[in-house]
Amino acid sequence: MTRHRVCVLPGDGIGPQVTDAVLPLFDALQLPIDLTFAEIGWECWRRDGDPVPSRTWAQIAAADATLLGAITSQPLHEAEAQLPEHLRGQGLNYVSPVIQLRQQLGLYANVRPVTDVLGNDRFCFTVIRENTEGLYAGLDYGRVPAELEPLLQQRELHGAPWTRNGPDDACVALRLQTRNGLTRLFHFAFEHARQQGFDRVTLADKPNVLRHSGAFAKGIFDEVALHYPGIAANIDNVDAVALWMIRRPERFGVVVAENMFGDILSDLGAGVMGGLGLAPSANFGSKAAYFEPVHGSAPGYVGRNVANPSAMFLSVALLLDHLGYSDQAHALQRAVTQVARRVCQTPDLGGTATTGQVASAIIERSLANSLASRTLYPVGSPS
Ligand code: NAI
Ligand code: MG
Repeated sequence: MTRHRVCVLPGDGIGPQVTDAVLPLFDALQLPIDLTFAEIGWECWRRDGDPVPSRTWAQIAAADATLLGAITSQPLHEAEAQLPEHLRGQGLNYVSPVIQLRQQLGLYANVRPVTDVLGNDRFCFTVIRENTEGLYAGLDYGRVPAELEPLLQQRELHGAPWTRNGPDDACVALRLQTRNGLTRLFHFAFEHARQQGFDRVTLADKPNVLRHSGAFAKGIFDEVALHYPGIAANIDNVDAVALWMIRRPERFGVVVAENMFGDILSDLGAGVMGGLGLAPSANFGSKAAYFEPVHGSAPGYVGRNVANPSAMFLSVALLLDHLGYSDQAHALQRAVTQVARRVCQTPDLGGTATTGQVASAIIERSLANSLASRTLYPVGSPS
């Protein structure tokens, strides 16, 4: 049987705590998965001036997938102040490890399933955010660059040329979208819909305002949609999508969006689920995949044993599904739901249970659900 290797990066803040909470599940499931552990994040920066040590890159490269807890990021000058004396003033830059992972591994699709964990399964959809280009492509200027002046001089704002006060009095950010980037993103979105059984893909954009770049994206979206005749494809305004995600979340299957629109919608998705303690995510590229809860390092929760481990368990479920263990993934997803609804809850959901109590309950039910599905579908039988 093929063995899989998973690189585990607990990170810092509540990262190690939610990671520790899920680890016993891997032993309990007895799957052919080998875990390797590596360092990442704030402590590495404070010690060596590098939040992603080269040993960690090597371990990520050698693994089939990566599981991350959470990492603290701080503004540049605060990060510099935390360095040991001998590393200060050398121009070391703290670049968010999460951004480094996405860029170095070419992880272009950020996948955030939004499920009705606390309710009655009224909705189930996935927000897919483009991770590498769009309005976060890095073309962001605090003053108008000389190269752009001729272009912008033609524009009038507030009834006068904006250049009246010179280039220091305006700033600009560009939304760069490429045919390659959008084509792979939309294919990914439709493939995801097909694999997960969704009957529609919605592109959330703003074509009535960003008319030309919107038309460019629409052309590619329509072309890709032709390859998936069984899946309905539509383009909606991103602001309307935000409204309907709250009002009628059951309307959606896959929602796909460029980087910034997707960033906002995916956090909204966590809100629709009932909070950051529940929201999982996955990042995919053509050669690599990494999985992490949506939440950050929640410094105020460190050492109190009350962080909700559900988001991390649901991220593990996405990981298991990716490695081909879909029965175990579904059993785990059901277990998280059963525990949150009927067994015990951490304080973020109004309960009094600890991280450890919720984790034990999820692992216990996950195993029971796995066994039950094995009884229904014994290995080797058609299912
Ligand atoms: P955060 O997600 O860490 O926490 C915000 C609030 O959400 C917390 O105060 C808490 O009330 C709640 N929360 C988050 N996770 C929870 C859990 N598992 N159980 C219960 N409640 C939970 O976001 P914040 O405070 O804006 O950022 C803290 C640090 O995390 C920053 O340094 C930030 O840069 C970093 N961050 C890292 C991310 C990552 O590792 N991918 C993502 C977001 C933020
Ligand atoms: Mg965000």
